[in-house]
Amino acid sequence: MTGTPTIPTWYKDPTADEAMADGHTAIWRHMIGLMPEIDLSGRDVLDYGCNQGGFLRLLYAVRPFRRGLGIDIAEASVARAEALSSTMPLHFRVGSGIAGLQAQFDLAFSHEVIYLLPDIATHAREMFAALRPGSVYYAVTGCHTGNALWPQWRELVAERTNTVVQDRSVTEYATAFAAAGFAVSGRKLGFDGFVPFKPGGWMPRFEDALDYVTPTKVLFRLVR
Ligand SMILES: C[S@@+](CC[C@H](N)C(=O)[O-])C[C@H]1O[C@@H](n2cnc3c(N)ncnc32)[C@H](O)[C@@H]1O
Repeated sequence: MTGTPTIPTWYKDPTADEAMADGHTAIWRHMIGLMPEIDLSGRDVLDYGCNQGGFLRLLYAVRPFRRGLGIDIAEASVARAEALSSTMPLHFRVGSGIAGLQAQFDLAFSHEVIYLLPDIATHAREMFAALRPGSVYYAVTGCHTGNALWPQWRELVAERTNTVVQDRSVTEYATAFAAAGFAVSGRKLGFDGFVPFKPGGWMPRFEDALDYVTPTKVLFRLVR
């Protein structure tokens, strides 16, 4: 996908991307624990919408891989990712386009990114092309029209971030990835850790915070 304009940081508040990474770490760890791919030592990994690169650094620490690329439209966040990752075989790129990366990866991820992509069909096709045959793309989102909080979150994303959300259902995501050639499966994220209560955040009711990471958030496993 080409042409998505770059932004300084994802959140308008330039300090908030760092806090987001802290908030996502337990979820990333849970995602990694769900993956049957254990030995990544010979694999090249892509994180689409990597922000400050925290997911790649955690994955490398837990399941070391050969080489990682993070891509994101948020320029200052990518600069921070580079600064934080100098001791690891990680590279970062500002932008949204992966069309030039043909069959270069054995594993790809996007955590809470696909709901921000205006053209999901192109993203699915480009991801399919970027992966080597037999590779897996794990795409995670709870930002879909089946999320009870979606109407409020559409407003919050517009108000607090430099991006625009897209309205898509879980079935629409599955259909787009299948049309690109992926064998599509998925599961509820089923986070089994303790969820922090953060009043005034994205989920004013604690009930919603608990539901978000268990039944609402979906992990797609997309096999090329
Ligand atoms: C909700 S944040 C999630 C960041 C990170 N994956 C995580 O788990 O913390 C969404 C990220 O997607 C990035 N993003 C949005 N649209 C994008 C696009 N078209 N191409 C690449 N990255 C994009 C944003 O800049 C932001 O860093």
